[in-house]
Amino acid sequence: MDPADLIWMNGEFVPWEDAKVHVLTHGLHYGTGVFEGVRCYDTEIGPAVFRHSDHIDRLFKSSELYYMPVPFEREALRSATLELIARNGFRSCYIRPLIMRGYGTMGLFPLDAPVDVCIATWEWGAYLGEEGKRDGIRAKVSSWRRIGPDSLIPQAKASGQYLNSVLAKIESHKAGYEEAILLDHIGNVCEGSGENIFVVRDGVVYTPGQSASILDGISRKSIVQIMRDMGIEVVERDVARAELYLADEVFVCGTAAELTPLREIDDHTIGSGKPGELTVAVQTAYEDALHGRTERYREWLDPVPAELYEAAAASDLVA
Ligand SMILES: Cc1ncc(COP(=O)(O)O)c(C=O)c1O
Repeated sequence: MDPADLIWMNGEFVPWEDAKVHVLTHGLHYGTGVFEGVRCYDTEIGPAVFRHSDHIDRLFKSSELYYMPVPFEREALRSATLELIARNGFRSCYIRPLIMRGYGTMGLFPLDAPVDVCIATWEWGAYLGEEGKRDGIRAKVSSWRRIGPDSLIPQAKASGQYLNSVLAKIESHKAGYEEAILLDHIGNVCEGSGENIFVVRDGVVYTPGQSASILDGISRKSIVQIMRDMGIEVVERDVARAELYLADEVFVCGTAAELTPLREIDDHTIGSGKPGELTVAVQTAYEDALHGRTERYREWLDPVPAELYEAAAASDLVA
């Protein structure tokens, strides 16, 4: 990761190298943090954050689920993010807001620890690779099950919960695959280590529903809407493991990975072994939406105001 100039921490813009926390920060020990992964694209209408308010809403919901009151209004985080992007001089970037229990108390009762908020931005290419997006990737069903609803909160994007994804990711990497697919606590297909999953059979698209312990993905929601707008039938229901192997096409999606086709799962070739027709059509439509090329989805874009870039350039001149 290449450093950017600034990070936003608790209301201040600080140089990247000064954005530090104490080693006794509660979240470092117990995983008491929640975060988001968001992207800004260089779109037809200028740099713009994709579904910004949906990401901020999910961040606040995740925080509430873990009893962390956020010491900033939603709008303060939104405007700080837009200003940070401009001051870092990015036209496109990945955005990582993090809310965590900070330094002050130890032990498992966290409610007396302060709540810290920071936002970082950096340039980050497609998480599963541009080649993966074009040609598809190889995935493996993990021996690790996705966290269950009776022990954690799958709908929350919480830091500690990601140890589950980390185990699955390492296992798949060591076995020579590019991504892991996790089953839910019942044994049905749940999602990738950082992506939601879709299975295509006979022209119909199936994806696990909310009760399958998925993270309620914002890319998933957008892609479901795009597919329905394209006249494609999308069914949310339990998906059995073998349906992955029997599928004509399989793809995953997430903010980091965008839409990435799967060409092999557990050494079974999916369809022809190349991204299928439906997948490619939906991927193209989704990329168009992300980049503001489709009028009807422009409402999903939160533009970075040009004045913020001008102000950042002017203050650079003064400095
Ligand atoms: C476990 C998990 N599932 C699904 C997703 C996809 O969610 P989104 O499309 O909101 O990025 C992510 C990424 O945030 C994730 O980490």
